[in-house]
Amino acid sequence: MPGLLSSPVCLTVIWFLSWSLRPSHAQIQTDEASGVQYAHLESNVTMACGKSQIRTPVVWHLNSSSVLPWHKVTSDGTLVLLYVDHSAQGNYSCHDDRGLLLHSVKLRLGHPPGLLSISCQVPNHTHVRCSWVESVKTFLPAKYSASFRGNGKEWRPCVVDVIRKHCDVDHPFFWTTIHTLRVTETNALGSETTSVRIRLNELLKPDPPESLLVETLEGYPKRLVVSWNIPSSWPLHDAFPLMFQIRYRPQGSIYWSEVYSEHSPVVIFDALAGHLHQFQIRVRDEVNSESQWSDWTPVFLIRPWEVSSTPESTEDRFADYFFPFNTKPETSTAKSHNSVHPEDEGNLGLVILLVLFSVVILTTVLSLIFVLWVRQRRRNHVTKQELTSMVKMKSMPI
Ligand SMILES: *[C@@H]1O[C@H](CO)[C@@H](O)[C@H](O)[C@H]1NC(C)=O
Ligand SMILES: *[C@@H]1O[C@H](CO)[C@@H](O)[C@H](O)[C@H]1NC(C)=O
Ligand SMILES: *[C@@H]1O[C@H](CO)[C@@H](O)[C@H](O)[C@H]1NC(C)=O
Ligand SMILES: *[C@@H]1O[C@H](CO)[C@@H](O)[C@H](O)[C@H]1NC(C)=O
Repeated sequence: MPGLLSSPVCLTVIWFLSWSLRPSHAQIQTDEASGVQYAHLESNVTMACGKSQIRTPVVWHLNSSSVLPWHKVTSDGTLVLLYVDHSAQGNYSCHDDRGLLLHSVKLRLGHPPGLLSISCQVPNHTHVRCSWVESVKTFLPAKYSASFRGNGKEWRPCVVDVIRKHCDVDHPFFWTTIHTLRVTETNALGSETTSVRIRLNELLKPDPPESLLVETLEGYPKRLVVSWNIPSSWPLHDAFPLMFQIRYRPQGSIYWSEVYSEHSPVVIFDALAGHLHQFQIRVRDEVNSESQWSDWTPVFLIRPWEVSSTPESTEDRFADYFFPFNTKPETSTAKSHNSVHPEDEGNLGLVILLVLFSVVILTTVLSLIFVLWVRQRRRNHVTKQELTSMVKMKSMPI
């Protein structure tokens, strides 16, 4: 089996070597088979009129026209284009003095590759995708080869998509702290290798949760039920638990309220009755504290259930406020201040809460005072008793 395992690696290395051994700073490369000559922009380009020595004067044409860019023709019929720009590209042909075609070549101009700017995405523990953008616009077709390895592990190919300029690695050694990615860009004028060191656990960023849905609860003008699905790119089994963060606010408010939860659904108890609300949700790996939050989902808009014809009795509404059912223990609410004034219902509730609180405080203080008083009294009593007994003892005849 080691033979089988190492063969793709071997092939990659051979391929890589064969590319990197090519002269990377050759000014001119001619692909004889396809009749294409590649050259650096802003250089002098030399084009021979075929291989054989030509005695007769020759005439050069570009795209079948005798109008050529800035150039000179040497005594042996070689064309030298000076300081070429894009307009010098095209089909060059040389003809003898009778107009007979001797040789033709297509000229393509560009730059050798420069370093790449590489970034990697890690949507789950089994997948890494790295994409790149060129720092130098080469104007020439390019090939890429990429390999990837964990620190101290062997190189593995990163499977390249040439069109989209990215490569994929499945099942990286996730728990190796540092990985290295090497991408080599090669074109007719040269090749350049870019290496980056990455930390997968810091790059781990799940895709956003899916199918965010917020629903009203009939009869409850301040409640909303939020449900969602985990990102489909996250493995379903429970080995990698997720933590979700929901944020919501009445439309127009600048402050978000936040709720964290491990599971869908979550009931929101403090919606602003009668107002349109914005909801968003994001997610991260719950265990790996260095990992990143996903992007937020698009905003979901909803208005809580509203009293239509028969207004609720006040008692019901207070019950709703003080004894919300189905409070999930893992749901913590970090309610930030709302810029919009809460309704009377909320104010009354607050007043009652405050009164209850002060009664409790008062009772505590009073009982403390009472306890202290009782203890003091008892101590006084004891000292008095001791004194009397001492006096008695002294007065006893020996
Ligand atoms: C191109 O040719 C011109 C004229 O022969 C010369 O002066 C110039 O230095 C050459 N440039 C390069 C980059 O070789
Ligand atoms: C250049 O030459 C190729 C074949 O050698 C031909 O297919 C193409 O049409 C030519 N282009 C121009 C602009 O002459
Ligand atoms: C010659 O033809 C090529 C297409 O083959 C074109 O890109 C180039 O601009 C043409 N050059 C001139 C000088 O017309
Ligand atoms: C990890 O993410 C990739 C890319 O989105 C996906 O193709 C793959 O199926 C995911 N892996 C699992 C185990 O879900």
